[in-house]
Amino acid sequence: MNPHKNIYFIDMLSGLHQSPIISNLKTLSVIIGTISPISPIQPQIILRRNFISPMAEESLRRSLAEKQSTIEARGNAIRELKSSGASKSEIDDAVKALNALKLEKTSIENQLKASISSSGGGDTNDAFRQAVVNTLERRLFFIPSFKIYRGVAGLYDYGPPGCAVKSNVLAFWRQHFVLEEDMLEVDCPCVTPEVVLKASGHVDKFTDLMVKDEKTGNCYRADHLLKDYCKEKLENDLSISADKAAELKHVLAILDDLSGEQLGAKLKEYGIVAPDTKNPLSDPYPFNLMFQTQIGPSGASTGYMRPETAQGIFVNFKDLYYYNGNKLPFAAAQIGQAFRNEISPRQGLLRVREFTLAEIEHFVDPDDKSHPKYSEVANLKFLMFPRGEQLSGQSAKRLSLGEAVSEGIVNNQTLAYFIGRVYLFLTRLGINEERLRFRQHLPNEMAHYAADCWDAEIESSYGWIECVGIADRSAYDLRAHTDKSGAQLVAQEKFAAPKEVEKLVITPVKKELGLAFKGSQKMVVEALEAMNEKEAMDMKAALETKGEVDFKVCTLEKTVTIKKSMVSISKEKKKEHQRVFTPSVIEPSFGIGRIIYCLYEHSFYMRPSKAGDEQLNVFRFPPLVAPIKCSVFPLVQNQQYEEVAKQISRSLTAAGISNKKDITGTSIGKRYARTDELGVPFAVTVDSTSSVTIRERDSKDQIRVNVDEVAAVIKEVSEGRCTWADILQKYPAHTSASADDEN
Ligand code: ATP
Ligand code: GLY
Repeated sequence: MNPHKNIYFIDMLSGLHQSPIISNLKTLSVIIGTISPISPIQPQIILRRNFISPMAEESLRRSLAEKQSTIEARGNAIRELKSSGASKSEIDDAVKALNALKLEKTSIENQLKASISSSGGGDTNDAFRQAVVNTLERRLFFIPSFKIYRGVAGLYDYGPPGCAVKSNVLAFWRQHFVLEEDMLEVDCPCVTPEVVLKASGHVDKFTDLMVKDEKTGNCYRADHLLKDYCKEKLENDLSISADKAAELKHVLAILDDLSGEQLGAKLKEYGIVAPDTKNPLSDPYPFNLMFQTQIGPSGASTGYMRPETAQGIFVNFKDLYYYNGNKLPFAAAQIGQAFRNEISPRQGLLRVREFTLAEIEHFVDPDDKSHPKYSEVANLKFLMFPRGEQLSGQSAKRLSLGEAVSEGIVNNQTLAYFIGRVYLFLTRLGINEERLRFRQHLPNEMAHYAADCWDAEIESSYGWIECVGIADRSAYDLRAHTDKSGAQLVAQEKFAAPKEVEKLVITPVKKELGLAFKGSQKMVVEALEAMNEKEAMDMKAALETKGEVDFKVCTLEKTVTIKKSMVSISKEKKKEHQRVFTPSVIEPSFGIGRIIYCLYEHSFYMRPSKAGDEQLNVFRFPPLVAPIKCSVFPLVQNQQYEEVAKQISRSLTAAGISNKKDITGTSIGKRYARTDELGVPFAVTVDSTSSVTIRERDSKDQIRVNVDEVAAVIKEVSEGRCTWADILQKYPAHTSASADDEN
C-alpha cells in the first residue's frame, strides 16, 4: 500500500472544514448581515463607505507598500541602535518616529479599507479579497465543488460567467501563441501510464516537503510554515535584533533553495509548531503530489493523473518533428487539465487540486538559441527580479529585455522572446503591469539540467503569485524519454556539403584487459569507452610519457592501473553528411486559473450609486475577456421596445457578439448596476423604435445610435478595432433621460 495514501485521506477530510472560500463566506455573512452568498439574483451588497476612484485606490496601494518598506527599514535601524548600545533618548526618538510612520500607514490602510469594505476590522487585503470573492461567488463566476456535500478543499466549479471568461482567455491564448507563432496544438489524455512519469522523474521526485502534527496527523507544507513564521516576526516583533531580522529576510529570500534537512533544522531552530494545535511537528519528508490510479480492471498497470501536460508533447516529439517537415525550431502546445494532490490548498482559487494548464514546448537547436522575432520584444521594459537582486535583498527593477539579454541576465534570445510575449499576453488581458514582475529562479530552485528559469508573478491580495513559469529545460526531457523508450527523440541537421570532422576513437585492447582484469574486464572496457574528449586525451598523454596511468572505474568502485598496451586512443578525420542532436526545449507553462483569479482582483472596484447611498461593484474587464460583451434593455416594459431589443440581440448574435437581454421591469439604473457587476462593457437601451443608446461601463458615457448600426458599432469597439473615445467622436452624446434611474 502506498504509505502516502492515508496522509492524503486525512488531509482531504480536514480540508473539508478548511476551505478558505467557505470560511470567508462565513465571515462575510457576518459583515453583510443578510445576503446569502450564493444566489445570483440577490440584490446588490449594500456597503456604506467613502468612494475613491480606481486610480486613487492604486496610488493608495503604492503608498502603502512604500510606507511598509520604510517602516521595515526604520525597524532595522532601531534594532541596530539597540545592539550598538545607543543612548536611551536616541532610541526613544527613533521609536517615536517609527510610531508616527505606523500611524500614517494605518491612516492609508483605513482609506483603502473605506473604499472596499465597511467591515471596519481585519486586514485591508482580507477585506478586499472577501469583497471580490463574495461577488464572484454570488454571481456564479465560480462555485466550491460538491458544495451541497460541504465541498472538498482545492476543488472548484466555474459557473456561467466564469466559463465565459475562461473560454475568452483560452481563445486569446490560442490567438496570441498558437496562431501567431504557428504552433502545433495537441490534445493528450490525462490518465498517463507509470513508465512515462517514471522516465520524466515525476514518480521519484514530484514531491513537496510535508510535516505532520505529531498528535493529530494534520499535514502542512514545511516551507509554508517557515515562510509564515519569518514574515510574522519581521512584521510584528520589534524586539528581534538587526542581525536576526537580516537572517529572517535571508531565509525568506532563499526559501525555495532549502533542502529537506535544512528546512527541518530551521523549523527546529525557530521552535515552529503546528499552527492550529501548537503540537510538535515531525521532520519534513517528501510527499508525492500525483494522484495514482489503475489502468484497466486487473490492477496490473499503474497510472497517474498527469501533473502537467508537457509529457504528452515530449512523447510525441518524433511525429511532430516529422509533421513539421523535420525542421527546427518549432513549438507544440497543449491546453488541458492537470492534477496535483496539494498538501494544504489554503489560497482559494490559487492553489487547487485540479486546474487548467496551457503549455508550450518550443524545440530549438542547443547551439543556436537566437530567435527571428527577438527584435519585436527587445525594447519592452518591465519589472524584472534577477537572482542577484533577490539574494542581496534588493527589489525588482525595471529592465528592458534587450538589456537583460546583453548583460547575460536572461540566458538566451528565445527565452527572452517568450518572456516578452508572456508580458504582452498578460497585460492585454487586463493584468495591471505595475503588479506584474518576472522573477528569476535561484540556483537550487532550478532543476540541475535547466539553463535558466523565470516566473511571471502577479501581485494579488495573497502577495506575489507565480502564474506562468518560463523555463529553458535544455535537452533533459527528450533524453530521458529516449533512454527509457529506446525511441530516438533527436533532430538532424543536414549539411549542404559533407563536413570533415575530427572524431575521438577509443579502442580498448580486450585481450590485454581480459588478462589483467578477468571478470571485471567488461566494466573497465565500458569505463574506457565512456571517457569524454578531455579525459581521453589526458590519458593518452600520460600513457605516452609514463607508460601507465591510474584510472577510476565507478562501477567497480575502485581505481585500476591502465597500461599503454591496453588501449589505443586517437583522433580520426571523418566526412559527415549530417549532425544528429537532442533539441533543447523552452517551456512557458500557464496556470490559467491563477491568471483568471488575479485578473478578477485587478479588475474589481466599487463606486457609489448616484444617490450616494450604496456602493456598487464593477469588474472593469477589457472587452476581450468580459463574459458578455453587451446587455440589451428596453427602457420600459413595452411590446414595441421589446421587439426592437430582440432584433438588436439577434443582430449582435449574428455578428458573433455575446449579449444578454434583460426585459424585467427593474429600474434601468439597477439593470446597469447588475451588468456592471458582471463586467459587461456595453449596454444598449431601447428608448425609441428608430435609435437607441449605448452606454460604456466605466465612464457611464452614453451615445445615440440608429438601431441598424448598433451591432456594427459594438463589434468594432469590443473587438478592439476602435476605442470608445473614437466612438464618442462619431456619435451624438446622450444625457440620461431619467437621472434618478442612472446608477
Ligand atoms: P507552486 O510553486 O506555486 O506550487 P509550481 O512551481 O509547482 O507552482 P509549475 O510546476 O511551474 O508550478 O506549474 C506551472 C504553472 O501551473 C504555475 O505557474 C501555476 O500557474 C500553475 N499551478 C501550479 N500548481 C497549481 C495549483 N495547485 N493550482 C493552480 N495552479 C497551479
Ligand atoms: N439610456 C437610458 C438611460 O440611461 O436612462
